[in-house]
Amino acid sequence: MFKKLKEERTLVMVKPDGVKRGLVGEIVKRIEQRGLKLIALEMFQATKEDIEKHYSTSEENLKNMGGKLVSTCEKYNIDMIKEFGTSDPVKLGALVHSWLGEYLTSGPMVKMVVQGILAVEMVRKLAGNTMPAQAEMGTIRGDFSVDSGIIANTQRRAVRNVVHASGNVAEAEFEIGLWFKSDEIHSYKRAEEEIMF
Ligand code: CDP
Ligand code: MG
Repeated sequence: MFKKLKEERTLVMVKPDGVKRGLVGEIVKRIEQRGLKLIALEMFQATKEDIEKHYSTSEENLKNMGGKLVSTCEKYNIDMIKEFGTSDPVKLGALVHSWLGEYLTSGPMVKMVVQGILAVEMVRKLAGNTMPAQAEMGTIRGDFSVDSGIIANTQRRAVRNVVHASGNVAEAEFEIGLWFKSDEIHSYKRAEEEIMF
């Protein structure tokens, strides 16, 4: 049981804006410094088909992404019907989904598998809130971006938030299987494992 928690895996990607801004090293540094282990890493160019598979079009996922647009609009008093023709989170999520293809194929990305204690939750904490303008200082999104849902979505584009991190363990397993073959994932002990945990 505890061994499983220690060996949890998550998928991290430095998105095209992060790569173009020279933030790969900084992001890897923060992951390694936290005591998490890189077990796979590669730079690659994604296709729109890859991105469509990566972000599920399940109602649940669309509702989650669209819901973030709804709360942004509510916060800034924006008329969703006027701006987007709907206030239905699922339909708004489908719009966001269509913008993600443009964003994530706009340049190379760096994908990695990260392993360690509660890796999914740890990397989510390192990444910070989806909307950089709302992310805490000290997080990757909070320190390196100030893009906001309202600016991005009203410009009909996805929020440029530097990094992707799997949202939960099931999502992580699916995403790792999507982006890496099993022989591209490595196994080794970090020196700290003896001392830190
Ligand atoms: O990446 P994260 O898991 O924090 O957020 P998500 O809800 O799974 O959304 C995936 C990605 O879609 C985000 O990282 C943003 O780049 C983008 N997004 C957006 O542009 N506008 C929204 N209203 C929601 C998400
Ligand atoms: Mg997500």
